[in-house]
Amino acid sequence: MLCVAVSAWALSDSQRDEVTSRIQPAGKVCLQGDSSCGAATASAGGGEKSGKEVYEGSCQGCHAVGAGNAPKFGDAAAWSDRIAQGKDTLYTHAIEGLNNVGMMPAKGLCMSCSDDEIKAAVDYMVENSQ
Ligand code: HEC
Repeated sequence: MLCVAVSAWALSDSQRDEVTSRIQPAGKVCLQGDSSCGAATASAGGGEKSGKEVYEGSCQGCHAVGAGNAPKFGDAAAWSDRIAQGKDTLYTHAIEGLNNVGMMPAKGLCMSCSDDEIKAAVDYMVENSQ
């Protein structure tokens, strides 16, 4: 303990600045929901996935190509009637599944996804399909 304290004091001011600036980026702790950390929290392991990540991992298999009558990503015509139902309906159908003209599995089969992650994926698809 004493050694650590002594060597820290032995640093010149410029050395100390250098050390501090080197330590900072790695040592900065981001709490989830802390907006000052930006997107970094989203990609941190175990954190919440972004809508894009969920889409790419679980939804694009069907929605990128329109497999089995899935409304295609980016196809405004295919989405307009669905969007007109309102976001809440889209969320519910994405979370619980929908078998109207095709087979939309509950949560797009991403059982490890939280409801919020599925909603973010719906938002991502809708934003890019109107
Ligand atoms: C196995 C293929 C498949 C996967 C995977 C899939 N979808 Fe779908 N999705 C469909 C099909 C088919 C429909 C059209 C269902 C219908 O209208 O009967 C659909 C419809 C939807 C709709 C419109 C619902 C409505 O009310 O009109 C949303 C929103 C949606 N999917 C979100 C998602 C999300 C989010 C994911 C990923 C987490 C996902 N889907 C993964 C096949 C899929």
